[in-house]
Amino acid sequence: MGTLMTSSIFTALKVAVITAIFFLSLPTKATLANDTLFTVYKDPQCGCCQGWIDHANQSGLVTKTVHPDNLYSMKKQLGIAPNLQSCHTAITPRTKLSGGFIFEGHVPVKYIKQFIAKTPSGAFGLSVPGMVVGSPGMENGNKFRAYKIIQLNRDGSHVVYAEIKSYQQQF
Ligand code: CU
Ligand code: CU
Repeated sequence: MGTLMTSSIFTALKVAVITAIFFLSLPTKATLANDTLFTVYKDPQCGCCQGWIDHANQSGLVTKTVHPDNLYSMKKQLGIAPNLQSCHTAITPRTKLSGGFIFEGHVPVKYIKQFIAKTPSGAFGLSVPGMVVGSPGMENGNKFRAYKIIQLNRDGSHVVYAEIKSYQQQF
């Protein structure tokens, strides 16, 4: 009797421990952004691109850098119109959930995560056209210029996704 009870307590404990290990081993950040490799296509000479990559890594994104010869024709092929282009292009792989997302230029990671967590229908990415002073990777003292994050849609259209009015809003 005593042995039986000890062994059933032991079994219950074992189950509890295994259950705890199972839940602890689950990724704590379950969003796609945190599990996804972002391949960043850029020019090897671009310093602000590296600034953005640092921002991305510090914000929890996993990145890999590629220096293609045909950066701008690649952007065009990806469906990023010339007026919506910036220096670098970050791309997530195709998954069952998405055809892969594209983030053009100095998009704050906060908005990348938001976009991936809740993708507007028909959208495939975001862009911050040009190189806006004060955006992540484009810091220059206290300078900041308000800007818009543009949503890129698969039908070729684009709309404003977010308006960034202050430096702090980016983080
Ligand atoms: Cu740049
Ligand atoms: Cu860049």
